[in-house]
Amino acid sequence: MLNQRTIEIIKSTVPVLEKHGETITTRFYQLMFGNHPELLNVFNHANQKQGRQQKALAGTVYAAAQYIDNLEAILPVVKQIAHKHRSLGIKAEHYPIVGKYLLLAIKDVLGDAATDEIINAWAEAYGVIADAFISVEAEMYDEAEKQIGGWDGFRNFVVDRKVTESDVITSFYLKPEDKKALAHFQPGQYISIKLEIAGEKFTHIRQYSLSDSPGKDYYRISVKREAGTVNPDGMVSNYLHDGVKEGDILKVSAPAGDFVLDTGKTTPVVLLSGGVGLTPMLSMLKTVVEVQPQRKVTFIHAAANGNVHALREEVETLTSLENVNSFFFYDSPTEDDRKNNTFDVEGYVTQEWLVRNIPKFEADFYFCGPTPFMKSINSSLKNLGVTEDRINFEFFGPKGSLEDS
Ligand code: HEM
Repeated sequence: MLNQRTIEIIKSTVPVLEKHGETITTRFYQLMFGNHPELLNVFNHANQKQGRQQKALAGTVYAAAQYIDNLEAILPVVKQIAHKHRSLGIKAEHYPIVGKYLLLAIKDVLGDAATDEIINAWAEAYGVIADAFISVEAEMYDEAEKQIGGWDGFRNFVVDRKVTESDVITSFYLKPEDKKALAHFQPGQYISIKLEIAGEKFTHIRQYSLSDSPGKDYYRISVKREAGTVNPDGMVSNYLHDGVKEGDILKVSAPAGDFVLDTGKTTPVVLLSGGVGLTPMLSMLKTVVEVQPQRKVTFIHAAANGNVHALREEVETLTSLENVNSFFFYDSPTEDDRKNNTFDVEGYVTQEWLVRNIPKFEADFYFCGPTPFMKSINSSLKNLGVTEDRINFEFFGPKGSLEDS
């Protein structure tokens, strides 16, 4: 337990953190990677380059500082991050390294303002925060390993099939090389894939949502080819598309993530996706149909046009069912799309459209897609009086904010 004086010091440094939060974490990463380059095997270089990870960490440290005497209040945030950490293989022994360089960075950036008293208070506080993460993660490692077909760390999977789903999205059907049981997952969860790419100094780890329903003898991911092979954002997805063949082995960690469909509920469910954000939503759609056939489900998908619209047949097969409805939105339909009537609405998913087409706002909403898409859906739902407990969303990449900034 922290004493009152330490808690006061931590809380009084919140405004300083607000001001310097990102500078401190940027410096922290420089120092940490300088001394522990092996950690570049686990961190996503693309997120680093874009500063996304710096923002995520700064935001969490700030939140933790505010709630240092009541960490229970931020337990959902801790759990969401812990899922990601577990999926990446972050262990207790990594925490002192992060702590050491975080304190050094605080000292570096704040200079004389960082008195010994402040630094000691932060050392204590970091210990408390780290312990909270370590214990939540220990439970998750235990669960992942103990469940039938589960495992700890990375397991070899064979690429059983590679299927082109659109101009930019390809599915990979992955089966465990050991041919043993495969852990169950919840629709909406993701796996991490660890890749060694020829010519690359470090391994690369990326998360991909599982795009099929659970209960199969494979996991399926559907990967979008990001632009540019040299930019770090595109390097991994391009390698998967061009460099990975059927029969190749990929290293995969057990399914993780807390963006999951609540199948304990019977309320209507509305699944909204933009672009490759359809992957977790398709897993949810297929699951509802399989395990809750009485539940009403509306699947709304936005794509630029038919050329980049993946997995449409899988959705269409299900829309013949009584309780399933789907709407495809194209913002730039091609001539062929118009000729073949491949979409329902031209343009974006707007609040006006939702009012007219989603009867009563008693449903649970799940959405995933590019940030502007998610911001727009989130604000529409809020304007329409949908309460927060019925709004669920997933960011690809470090969690950002959906509030207008
Ligand atoms: C991801 C916070 C400790 C490695 C994250 C994220 C946050 C975070 C907010 C983003 C989650 C998301 O994707 O939505 C923290 C805090 C820590 C801590 C507050 C300490 C109390 C560690 C440690 C390691 C680590 C000890 C390993 C040395 C990572 C990695 C990611 C991540 C590799 C994935 C992000 C990427 O590669 O871009 N962490 N973390 N973290 N964390 Fe931590």
